[in-house]
Amino acid sequence: MENTQSYIQANKQRFLDELIELLKIPSVSADPAFTADVAKTAESVAQSLRDAGADNVEICKTEGHPIVYADKIFDSSLPTVLVYGHYDVQPADPIDLWTSPPFEPVIKKTEIHPEGAIFARGACDDKGQMFMHVKAFEAMIKSDELTCNVKFMIEGEEEVGSSNLGVFVKNNKKKLEADIILVSDTGMLANDVPSITTGLRGLSYVEVEVTGPNRDLHSGLYGGCVANPINILAKMIASLHDENNHITIPGFYDKVVELSDAERAQMAKAPFSKADYCKSIDINDVYGEEGYSTMERGSIRPTLDVNGIWGGYQGDGAKTVIASKAYAKISMRLVPDQDPDEITKLFMDHFLAIAPAGTEVVVTPHHGGEPAVTPIDSIGYEAASDAYEATFGTKSIPVRSGGSIPIVAMFEKELGLKTILMGFGLDSDAIHSPDEHYGLFNYYRGIETIPHFFVAFSKRFNKN
Ligand code: BES
Ligand code: MN
Ligand code: MN
Repeated sequence: MENTQSYIQANKQRFLDELIELLKIPSVSADPAFTADVAKTAESVAQSLRDAGADNVEICKTEGHPIVYADKIFDSSLPTVLVYGHYDVQPADPIDLWTSPPFEPVIKKTEIHPEGAIFARGACDDKGQMFMHVKAFEAMIKSDELTCNVKFMIEGEEEVGSSNLGVFVKNNKKKLEADIILVSDTGMLANDVPSITTGLRGLSYVEVEVTGPNRDLHSGLYGGCVANPINILAKMIASLHDENNHITIPGFYDKVVELSDAERAQMAKAPFSKADYCKSIDINDVYGEEGYSTMERGSIRPTLDVNGIWGGYQGDGAKTVIASKAYAKISMRLVPDQDPDEITKLFMDHFLAIAPAGTEVVVTPHHGGEPAVTPIDSIGYEAASDAYEATFGTKSIPVRSGGSIPIVAMFEKELGLKTILMGFGLDSDAIHSPDEHYGLFNYYRGIETIPHFFVAFSKRFNKN
């Protein structure tokens, strides 16, 4: 372990330079214009795994973007860690809101990251965090201190729903046999408050279309006489929450697992400042479901949010028109034991039922995913806890996150494996937003912490 840590210290600058090169390739999975760059990124990840010392490095073709697989199996008596991450990124738009170009990484100091942060799309989500595992692996191999067999599965479609990874996992159960899955694609509370993510929300995502008249109409000649699809859509959406901000879809909460008072009290111990929270996103108050704290609203409670809404005239000046159609994209974040297909069906039935006469409503489901929770009384969690303690010098706290990584529930279902979520990002790192960044402290601390997980996991595994 000492050699691994000194290898890391001696190679810090190169580790950073290599990440910067990786961030220059625009691996936007959602936009077909970037398909060649996505493939190039897979090549680059594969090459870095080869250079690090992995044995079977493969670029596995799928119906979509490729999956990079690699392994180092050197002792069948040792446990096997399967590292999952993604090399694809979200689209960079709106580009003009970036203070430096999204695919030209630069290091800038911020209030939260006084030692500097790398600004680039994917810096935190997830190229930076995924690459920490490649570098930690390299350090362990080159120092001859690897204590577990390792498999890597790095995909290029996480940001578009991981549907081909689902197929890959189902078809390659033998290849993916392991004892634990390790992922860095989440966050922690603060740089001096390490935390381990113990839960992810699920997702149901729908697009709705409301049609009124068969063409756009003069709003003077027809206004007041026909259902205006935009008015109707706004009204329908507004009705999805009641005055306490509970969701009104019948059956929506039926399967929600309520936390016990003891669990909620435990959760309330995590440091949270409402004032800092408001300040960080420039709002003067929080808003949400009655009876729950902001921390709870953002993690253990299901939500419904409009992600986009459009229709009608949006050009300069005023055009007097009633649009024929109105649209919205709506996400529902789910918690155990809600089932995304069931929730989509409940939404659909309800939304169609509340559509007034004179309109026609179509609901189209998009990709979704199941929620996941990790128990804290497992050797995987304990090993992660040991690892954070070794590098941060303080105990980490378990925190359920509001985000989703749908493949985590699938790993459990298909491979029977739990996932340990060792995230090093911060909520303020602006993932999916303009000016995404990742602290140098976080990048290096992640690389230093991961080898401790391997050591702790193999120790605890052998004791079992
Ligand atoms: N890495 C994120 C998820 C995340 C971020 C979880 C921070 C916890 C903390 C992941 O890349 C992501 O963006 N997931 C999507 C879902 C996916 C189906 C597009 C999400 O949560 O919106
Ligand atoms: Mn991610
Ligand atoms: Mn993401």
